[in-house]
Amino acid sequence: MDKSAALEQIRQRILQELECPLKDAATNLVFGKGNPEAAILFIGEAPGAKEDELGVPFVGAAGKELDALMHLIGLSLDDAYVANILKYRPPKNRDPSSEEIRCHTPYLVEQIKVICPRVLVTLGNFATKFVLGGCSVEKMKSVSGITALHGKHMPLSVDGWSGIVMPLFHPAAMLYRPQLRTVLQKDFLSLKEMLGQQTL
Ligand code: URA
Repeated sequence: MDKSAALEQIRQRILQELECPLKDAATNLVFGKGNPEAAILFIGEAPGAKEDELGVPFVGAAGKELDALMHLIGLSLDDAYVANILKYRPPKNRDPSSEEIRCHTPYLVEQIKVICPRVLVTLGNFATKFVLGGCSVEKMKSVSGITALHGKHMPLSVDGWSGIVMPLFHPAAMLYRPQLRTVLQKDFLSLKEMLGQQTL
């Protein structure tokens, strides 16, 4: 089965999942976008209002910032896949609870296994702590925060996947902390350098 078909099967299973927290309050499932064959997978936190309305990740204000950062280093959705920790929007964009992360992330882990990217770019604290905690909700607390980890290239093997994790500040953080713009731009340039060094 090709990767698009395998992802579609996962998407269908989420749609059929009756007990999925946040589902009832959401308008749409927000599964992912981009090229399933890509070598880079960006992992965000959770859909916002625009994403919930359209059923597509990173299409609101944070999405515009992510697009601009990708454009800065010559990446498009032909080169990357984009998904989130949570597949449905939390009300009022509040932080995800541990229980929500526990219920939604098995699907993210399946996406990682199907796409099998060389690089996982984790955007913000939740994605970074989940992935570097070995894709375990219980271990998230033991992982340092994004301020300490952003821009590092970290080899990881987890759940049958091996590759490099690069934690970055979440693009939405620039909207309320403008000083992070240059930090994110610098980290994206470092991502570009790393991609250039790899046989992807
Ligand atoms: N922020 C995220 O983390 N994901 C989205 O899809 C949109 C905003």
